Amino acid sequence: MEHVRAVEWAPSGQAVRIIDQRRLPGAFIERDLTTVDEVVEAIQTLAVRGAPAIGVAGALGLVAALLPYGGEPLPEFLVRARPIAARIRSARPTAVNLPVAVDRMVAMLDRAAAQGLDTPAVLEALHREATAILDEDRAMCRRIGEWGAPLLHDGARLVTHCNAGALATSGMGTALAPVYVAAECGRHVEVFAGETRPLLQGARLTAWELSRAGVPVTVVTDGTVASLMRAGRVDLCIVGADRIAANGDAANKIGTYAVAVAARHHGIPFYVAAPTSTIDPHAATGADIPIEERARAEVSGGGQTVPDAAAVFNPAFDVTPAELISGIITDTGLYRPPYRFA
Ligand code: MRU
Repeated sequence: MEHVRAVEWAPSGQAVRIIDQRRLPGAFIERDLTTVDEVVEAIQTLAVRGAPAIGVAGALGLVAALLPYGGEPLPEFLVRARPIAARIRSARPTAVNLPVAVDRMVAMLDRAAAQGLDTPAVLEALHREATAILDEDRAMCRRIGEWGAPLLHDGARLVTHCNAGALATSGMGTALAPVYVAAECGRHVEVFAGETRPLLQGARLTAWELSRAGVPVTVVTDGTVASLMRAGRVDLCIVGADRIAANGDAANKIGTYAVAVAARHHGIPFYVAAPTSTIDPHAATGADIPIEERARAEVSGGGQTVPDAAAVFNPAFDVTPAELISGIITDTGLYRPPYRFA
């Protein structure tokens, strides 16, 4: 099965090509990003989104933004590169994949500079490192799929939240990777996609990519999930993660915690699927994970849905405590509690 490429090099190798996810499912539009402003704007407005995809976009985007300066002497190039890297690194706060990828690029920059290379050679080293990050992410997705697929019996009915599929990575996704691998093996799996207020990643993106791949998918409002469970219509849940703390607490799209609470109440297994690049050993627990707050208009806009006098609280993510997580599916294996990722 050929999956969409949410983030990759443009054929020139000089720009980051993304699918503009703000336009899905109505329009499939690819965009090439070449400047730091374009890269940061694409990440902040969720044109490219999902923890692994923004890490890859950050790495490729740093190279694309630096390419025009290949003629500068190395000391000037280094002075230019660091603030650009810092801007990309802080474009969004919750997914650890973004700072991990950018820090890896800066470490490569430092190593290449220490070797006495000239600027074009440093740029080549950065390009190779960014490509390695992209390729590794793609490979990790496949391994997550292989570790997770045995959890899905023929006829399994699965709940997911937000989009942790191909659109959120450079490969086949994380939470949806086991679904794709099970489908490749000929198993019939059905997915309930919570619509994921307020930006509707479940309704717009998960439903789009699963339908495109021929996997049966039903979109439900976020409030419907618990009733489905009560009605005996759900066998398991698999969601993605933006950052997993050393104790297994997992930050993911707002509303994930409610799915986990409902799953526990109904005795339904709740799994988190993520590459090892999403584990942050420096975060001891979920309390150490920064939660992005986004604009009021995401909740109140689109035809006025909230009176002006009312405040809006719009956290983009929540933390599901490790005690509610039946297993964490990674590229290196399926981990069961107690989790110790330090
Ligand atoms: O705000 P978003 O759309 O970037 O949020 C994405 C999620 O919460 C995903 O579930 C998570 O990043 C995992 S993607 C493989």
